[in-house]
Amino acid sequence: MDYPMRRDDPFHPPPDYARLRAELPVSRVRLRTGQRVWFVTRQADAKVVLGDPAFSSVPSAPGYPAIRPLPEGPPPPGVFLAMDPPEHTRFRRMLTGEFTVKRMAALRPVIDEVIADCLAELTAVDGPVDLVEVFARPVPSLVICELLGVPRSDREFFNERSQVQLDRAASASAVAQAVEELRVYLDGLVRSKTADPGDDLLSRLVVQRLRTGELTHEELVGIARLLLVAGHETTANMIGLSVLTLLAQRSRWEELCADPGLVPGAVEELLRFSSVVQQGVARAVVAEISVGGQRMRPGEGVLVALASADRDERVFADPDTLDLRRPAGRHIAFGFGVHQCLGQMLARAELVAALTALTRSVPGLRLAIDPADVEFRPDMAVYGISALPVTITARVGE
Ligand code: HEM
Repeated sequence: MDYPMRRDDPFHPPPDYARLRAELPVSRVRLRTGQRVWFVTRQADAKVVLGDPAFSSVPSAPGYPAIRPLPEGPPPPGVFLAMDPPEHTRFRRMLTGEFTVKRMAALRPVIDEVIADCLAELTAVDGPVDLVEVFARPVPSLVICELLGVPRSDREFFNERSQVQLDRAASASAVAQAVEELRVYLDGLVRSKTADPGDDLLSRLVVQRLRTGELTHEELVGIARLLLVAGHETTANMIGLSVLTLLAQRSRWEELCADPGLVPGAVEELLRFSSVVQQGVARAVVAEISVGGQRMRPGEGVLVALASADRDERVFADPDTLDLRRPAGRHIAFGFGVHQCLGQMLARAELVAALTALTRSVPGLRLAIDPADVEFRPDMAVYGISALPVTITARVGE
């Protein structure tokens, strides 16, 4: 079977996933590059792959799935998503303190302010307005810029470059250029923080880790790049897709507007339902192991279909139904194991704040086009929508 597989309904993963879960939960697929890799569709098996040291996240490891041609050589310094323990652990430990409940609570006013600004822009327009452009993209971009201490005036620069990097259809030269431009910019940013630290994540890492010799300048630049890329596109697409999913099933939107207390649970269900990291998650086998009855050997590649694991009928009853009241917390949209999303609490805080603000302030929000005309992103690593024209009727207070 060829990978990626086609969706026939943009709100649901490819139908092949359900068939494979039932008939051949650990199967083989052929990538566009011709490589054959294991394909894991049930949640229990997905957790084995993501949780066991028999699997490596290093793209240069033999057999690592090349969904598109892989960059040669080792990953850039500091990009710990592409490292294994113990190297990965060293970086992850330095960062966990920046994503604690306490830090997220401190960021809450920033998130609320960013959302209020974007909401004001959304409601300022009379007639159809693109919610992706004025709300879903800028919210996470501004929040991550605040977190890192990136000047707001540079946010457009990041929007464009991080999108190119995740575009499976982008040419290798376009990706390489975007990567290089971001690296050069962040290099300058880290230099300015080193000369004059402020009160932000990069400055704290400068004072606590760079000056003590635990981190090099290049590693800090890599960390900054990873956080920007990982935190922006994922959250932007989750916001856009969540609003679309709710508006396309209007009774669900109205359910949330009527009871804002449902929002945190609804966010978990939307994370499960959309499971936006649609390509990958990739690993290379480094020690022999059995998964779902299949023997995997070193040098083989594995793809874990998170979107399939999050529709696994062994874990979720009636998985293809969006049920805002179900306990959806067992989804693995943020991954599992040592690489489980570092920014998940931040992402949740942004999603809850965004949906709370929208349902409270603009309950009359409507799609300005037919749901069938919405442009989805089937070829991107992160699923979502490119634009969402909406109209705002019946604003609160009018
Ligand atoms: C890792 C999803 C938001 C930072 C991951 C992984 C997934 C994921 C599936 C695991 C990848 C793997 O195992 O190879 C998401 C989704 C998000 C989101 C669905 C939004 C809805 C964020 C945010 C940040 C962030 C807001 C930071 C500001 C990271 C980092 C990693 C990661 C640094 C690598 C962790 C490691 O390797 O230890 N994310 N993410 N993510 N995410 Fe997120």
